[in-house]
Amino acid sequence: MGKNLTQVTTTFYVCDGGSCRKAGSDPVMRATRAYLRNQGLWDTTHTIKTRCIGRCEDAPAAIVHPGDYWYKNLDAQNVIKVMKKHLEEDKPVEELLVFKEGSTVINSDKERPKKVPKPFSLVEDEDLGLIYSTRGFSTDQYTYPLFLYLAETKGPATLTFPHGQTHSFRDIQSVEYGKYQLEVVFNDATLAFTLAGIPKTEPMALQRSRVLVTEFFYEAFRPEKRGIRLKDKMGRLLAIIWLDPADDTVWNYCLKVQLGMSEVLIQSED
Ligand code: FES
Repeated sequence: MGKNLTQVTTTFYVCDGGSCRKAGSDPVMRATRAYLRNQGLWDTTHTIKTRCIGRCEDAPAAIVHPGDYWYKNLDAQNVIKVMKKHLEEDKPVEELLVFKEGSTVINSDKERPKKVPKPFSLVEDEDLGLIYSTRGFSTDQYTYPLFLYLAETKGPATLTFPHGQTHSFRDIQSVEYGKYQLEVVFNDATLAFTLAGIPKTEPMALQRSRVLVTEFFYEAFRPEKRGIRLKDKMGRLLAIIWLDPADDTVWNYCLKVQLGMSEVLIQSED
């Protein structure tokens, strides 16, 4: 039988993402559950392992509800203190909090600066000539939304492969994200892009096919010629998404959503 949620008053969400596991989330969860079992608090307190909760620098991290209390630097000892405080006094352990409802600051000991793409810079590219380019983020938290946007808006853009094969996003039917790969279905072809991280146990060819570089560029002498280059880990070109020179829609989406740039001064060498 599942947990009787009608009896639950407090829930501990213990992060079980990669960074937290490395930092010791397993002992934290074990200590938490053993304490609840032995104290007879099992039925009224729920414990849930989560995937990454976005505070890897504070690993092992956890969230306590009610109250939206975010904890940092947990271990098998201090998590007991946290539980006792919540369950016996309905209060947080302030010194271990990274955030609580209503806070305007993040109380982290290891806060990392937000990563932002570099500004566009002028480069002499061996394939494209003189271009302004910058690298975007290439995790699937960015690449999947990019393809989804192109599919939902139907471009205007074209996908070009190194061997010359070209598909217009106007002819796209769907995008389907499987285990690791995004299947992009056009009227006349179905293509696959590896977007997710691939475990080392998977075939090397699959690991190597992952899109790991997304490069946004425009030509220096014709700024309206612009696009996105997708490359693998070795810097090999996988495909180029060329944007319609007469339509700014996708380019503006790229600047705002993919690169987080509110305003870009487009430079031209003319
Ligand atoms: S892995 Fe736990 S916060 Fe990211």
